Amino acid sequence: MLSVKDNEAIARVGKGTPVGELMRRYWHPISATAELDERPTKKVRLLGEDLVLYKDRSGTYGLLDALCPHRRVDLSYGIPEENGLRCMYHGWMFDETGQCIEQPFEETVHPDGRFKEKVKIAGYPVQELGGLLFAYMGPQPAPLLPRWEQLTWGNAVREICISELPCNWLQCQENSLDPLHNEWLHAYYTNVVRNGKHELPQQRGITLKIAFDQFEHGIIKRRVEEGYTEEDDDWKEGHPVLFPHILLVGDEVKSTLQFRVPIDDYTTYHVSYYVWGAAPGAVAPAQPVIPYRYVPLKDESGRYIVDILFNQDYMAWVTQGPLARRDLEKLGESDKGIIMYRKLLKEQAEIVADGGDPMNTFRDPEKNQSIALPLEHVKFLNRGRTGYNLVEAGDPLDVDLIEQTMATWDGQRSERATAGAVSST
Ligand code: FES
Ligand SMILES: [Fe+2]
Repeated sequence: MLSVKDNEAIARVGKGTPVGELMRRYWHPISATAELDERPTKKVRLLGEDLVLYKDRSGTYGLLDALCPHRRVDLSYGIPEENGLRCMYHGWMFDETGQCIEQPFEETVHPDGRFKEKVKIAGYPVQELGGLLFAYMGPQPAPLLPRWEQLTWGNAVREICISELPCNWLQCQENSLDPLHNEWLHAYYTNVVRNGKHELPQQRGITLKIAFDQFEHGIIKRRVEEGYTEEDDDWKEGHPVLFPHILLVGDEVKSTLQFRVPIDDYTTYHVSYYVWGAAPGAVAPAQPVIPYRYVPLKDESGRYIVDILFNQDYMAWVTQGPLARRDLEKLGESDKGIIMYRKLLKEQAEIVADGGDPMNTFRDPEKNQSIALPLEHVKFLNRGRTGYNLVEAGDPLDVDLIEQTMATWDGQRSERATAGAVSST
């Protein structure tokens, strides 16, 4: 249990708050690249600030204050020009640093005037990687955009699923330090809602043991389920949670990065980044555009969708409330990882307050070519290749390409059958 004050300190992300300042030391995904190719301006809210993301006609991305400083109209209706974003109301133009670079009428009336030099709005850096656009809102010099290996895999196909969740980001991230929910929410509950069976699915054992270790990029969680031992991947390799707000799930065939980006204290921009790698020696089919889709959260009756894996998580996080009352919770044996993560969060926020670089700050390009992460090697193959597995509601994209990529692994299965496993979240 935390005090009300400590809860606020680890959850809130506004400017000047401990975790708000910590979060301003990281790059955050704010859009699929393809979305800006379809329409070159987009409203974005990040860390409590209203912004407009745009791509100008020379291909430069910018992230500016949402409102024009002249008479305060919404720049997401603005006009991307060759080098900058022009306000559609009276034609003022801004470059990607937020500097006003044109004021047509002022310049006509006062050709020597210098008013525009004094007009500057916020302009945050944006970079593209792996089909996502990332923004950085902290002090300069900005650290490097981390090139987590899944974002850099060349021989692979991808899908991006986006959801906007009406809850604080930390509820989403704490779920990743909670391996027990896999047995209940994803196995037992699934069997109840799908099959009316009040039991674990066949071949799925109870959780016997969990443990957590800090490593250089975050925390590794480990578990032993009935029928397995400490020699199996779930314990030996474990599953990494990347600080501060990313979960990695998967293996060398399919892996997912989930980013839990704080829109503000009560809303999260959730990005699931799926990558299917081709088998060694095989070539993944060409995927000219990395596709994205928005995930429905509710069914026709207005209830959260609960029969699809990640939608179950979304339901659980959102129903904890807009900002979970950690001052009222009663933590038990399964919550050791959550306690460890909260401590890490506090420590890292203190490092930032003392002027230091927090965990997962990268400044050496050599070490940021492709950041290798601990991955299981065999689990997916063990499960058997059963075709595209829908884990978020809505219509999947590029299923044919994904299946062609998975087919490159045929014949490479290991012998151990783990058909009962549905997820390693
Ligand atoms: S309101 Fe933007 S130029 Fe006038
Ligand atoms: Fe989950």
